[in-house]
Amino acid sequence: MAFETIVVDTEEHVTTIRLNRPDALNALNQTLLKELAQAVEEASTNDNVRCVILTGSEKVFAAGADIREMAEKSYVDMMTSDYFGPETEAILRCRKPIIAAVAGYALGGGCELAMMCDFIIAAETAKFGQPEINLGVVAGLGGSQRLTRFVGKSKSMDMHLTGRFMDADEAERSGLVSRVVPAKRLMEEAQGAAQKIAEKSILTAMVVKEAVNRSYETTLREGLLFERRLFFSLFATEDQKEGMAAFLEKREPQFRDK
Ligand code: HXC
Repeated sequence: MAFETIVVDTEEHVTTIRLNRPDALNALNQTLLKELAQAVEEASTNDNVRCVILTGSEKVFAAGADIREMAEKSYVDMMTSDYFGPETEAILRCRKPIIAAVAGYALGGGCELAMMCDFIIAAETAKFGQPEINLGVVAGLGGSQRLTRFVGKSKSMDMHLTGRFMDADEAERSGLVSRVVPAKRLMEEAQGAAQKIAEKSILTAMVVKEAVNRSYETTLREGLLFERRLFFSLFATEDQKEGMAAFLEKREPQFRDK
């Protein structure tokens, strides 16, 4: 499918979605969000796709929501259109694992978009920030909530109030990203991780994604109960039988997503 602001490529069960508005540092406008939501929905429902990578260019993941597009909007415009709301819901609904591969700036909505993914792999050049305060606004796609859960209140408050950027090392130290790699190896690392995930049972991967994400939505007690129910439920699958038999027979499992 041809898009205007993203490039989508599916190879060996992995869909890579590349944000592509180089003249505006991949700023997120309505066209981009709509196209991104469409591409994610397609990957989520396509049986051939087992993992998704969301990335930008070498210089920038995304420099935030498009300030030019937003500047003259009124409260009523934002409220009645639920600006970016339905599109981000579509991304959050994706049932396949999504990895964000971030090089360069991931600011404002760009940082928030990366945090909507299941985990973030960063290049050494990555810079994360929530500088909305400099524009007279607050984060609007989850930054004040997700960044705080990732890095804790003190660092999150610092980032949101001063608008400073966090480099890749600090992001890894504080739990925002799962790995940092040299910029040249970013896509190789993300593809390696995606391939590893693609080899698993997609059924199990979906359950894992649900279980971990639930930890952000609920109390510990409810989350533990949810996890145990999921764990027990997987004993109704062929892939559990295959995974455990393969271990005992000292061979690689052949998962069938059943
Ligand atoms: C629109 C943007 C943009 C943005 C950069 N550009 N960021 N256009 N929206 N968010 C454009 C610039 O206007 C410029 O266009 C071109 O991209 C290159 O940018 P420069 O500033 O010249 O590049 P550089 O000096 O390298 O600085 C890079 C930067 C800076 C540090 C990333 O561009 C920057 O601070 N951008 C804004 C970051 C930001 O405040 N993000 C939060 C947005 S609010 P021209 O035409 O002049 O070449 C947000 C809210 C989310 O995200 C919630 C939504 C619901």
